[in-house]
Amino acid sequence: MNDRDKATIYLESRQRLASLIAGLQDPVAAMASVAAVLFESLPAASWVGFYRVVEPNVLRIGPYQGPVGCLEIPFDKGVCGAAARERRTQVVPDVLAFPGHIACDSRTRSEIVVPILDREGEVAAVLDLDSHQAANFDQVDRQHLEEIATLLQPCFSVADSA
Ligand code: SME
Repeated sequence: MNDRDKATIYLESRQRLASLIAGLQDPVAAMASVAAVLFESLPAASWVGFYRVVEPNVLRIGPYQGPVGCLEIPFDKGVCGAAARERRTQVVPDVLAFPGHIACDSRTRSEIVVPILDREGEVAAVLDLDSHQAANFDQVDRQHLEEIATLLQPCFSVADSA
């Protein structure tokens, strides 16, 4: 898929999501909708889902699509932990070269993880997309997924991230 096709898919997905989650103050419903829309729209994504901040420095699985994911990830482990800890999107073209990568699915070759902030600007969750293809995610994915993260932000009150 070229970047233009990918951008079109993301724009259509974002439009669908904007109308699905507009005014929704239920983070589970919002995360479930994002996982379903993106997994359905991005054929090279093998896993799309969320890890939620459930206590300081601990992520726990949230709504997702794909094979069974690991249940908990501390902030000091894996790509998800790095995204939550650094509050920064992680684009990983080769997971085998990422120190501490957690292999929930041994077929995963690349991934992108985007932090989701709550209404107060604290990290409430991360959005994780994995692929069996190496270097499947790039700056186009980053830009569009960060826009989707911004769309999600009003769904998360401060209490949801506790
Ligand atoms: N790959 C992630 C773990 C989560 S699973 O891929 C669903 C990581 O290293 O953070």
